[in-house]
Amino acid sequence: MQTISVSLGARSYPIHIGAGLLGDARLYAPFAKGKRVAVVTNPVVAPLHLENLQRALEEAGAQSVPVLIEDGEQAKSWASLDRVIEALLAARLGRDALLVALGGGVVGDLAGFAAAVYQRGIPFIQVPTTLLAQVDSSVGGKTAINHPRGKNMVGAFHQPLAVIADVATLDTLPDRELRAGIAEVIKHGFILDLPFVAWLEANIEKLLARDRAALEYAVQRSCELKAQVVAADEREGGRRAILNFGHTFGHAIEAGAGYGEWLHGEAVGTGMLMAAELSARAGTLRRDDAERVKALIARAGLPLRGPKLAIERYLELMQVDKKTEAGKVRFILLDGLGRATLRGDLDERLVRESIAAVQ
Ligand code: NAD
Ligand code: GLY
Repeated sequence: MQTISVSLGARSYPIHIGAGLLGDARLYAPFAKGKRVAVVTNPVVAPLHLENLQRALEEAGAQSVPVLIEDGEQAKSWASLDRVIEALLAARLGRDALLVALGGGVVGDLAGFAAAVYQRGIPFIQVPTTLLAQVDSSVGGKTAINHPRGKNMVGAFHQPLAVIADVATLDTLPDRELRAGIAEVIKHGFILDLPFVAWLEANIEKLLARDRAALEYAVQRSCELKAQVVAADEREGGRRAILNFGHTFGHAIEAGAGYGEWLHGEAVGTGMLMAAELSARAGTLRRDDAERVKALIARAGLPLRGPKLAIERYLELMQVDKKTEAGKVRFILLDGLGRATLRGDLDERLVRESIAAVQ
């Protein structure tokens, strides 16, 4: 087992990474002993892992109740949040209760937000079961639901007490979901770590074949990189925005195509192509490095073309991006491969050309 620490003073927490951790009572005991626990999950993950998790909680000295939400991005909604709150109240859970999020990023984001607002905030643990959730969404304390006008438009920063990332859970993940998770792994290399890009270029086939050691390293390195950024800028006053590389275009792709058509990671993959194209056109990334970005995304089996929306529609959808400042959309550019920078001064013509080049 590898353990990484997210250093946030009194809100610091461990990320445990390894195979077979989900059923290990020792990892829950420090937080769950003597507690009443609600396990938020969905009908896809529950049959795979709920029993094992509840047994571990019982061994750790906790009593638990399951709370099921529907599967899919549409579950990040007011209606699902209401259902979770209702279930917590019906179970008479108080402020001393603990919430456990068992599932992918959808469960983690929704359950984390429920924990942030239930009785003004209760603690929670992330047990991510998708690659995307293990390398990204379970770490850093961003929780949210979607609004019809934009993704993640209602949410809170609420750090978990711990993240327990069991890479064995990835065995059952559909291939498409695995590739979507690889997009966020690759993102960490592109923005922060050139040697990790080289490692990915050498090991991408192993990741696609679900080689345990390769997956464990990819999760570990991604979490190390993300933890450093979060520790330096928890609430995204500046630097943390680089974690959104590819996301400004990606959110427009997701919303423009209709939530659920494109997976989040797929949209981020194509969004990174647009952002790399924009970086090349703005002169911050060499053309051969932009080709390296494209080659790795292609080898990960991610889509290489954005949906055929009018460019105006892309621009309109990008306006709701949370990085927008004084009405101007800001972009994360690659400042060479392995480095990223936030820019709000780009000529709109370059943005239009970059979208068109990847459509
Ligand atoms: P998801 O939660 O929808 O999971 C993908 C699918 O895999 C679902 O059908 C799920 O039920 C299923 N699944 C989960 N674990 C499984 C397993 N072990 N075996 C088989 N199937 C399994 O999607 P996701 O990609 O995990 O997360 C996407 C969400 O994460 C988006 O809403 C995105 O906005 C959010 N996100 C949040 C952050 C953050 O910092 N909070 C970062 C990145 C993404
Ligand atoms: N996924 C972007 C962030 O956590 O900041």
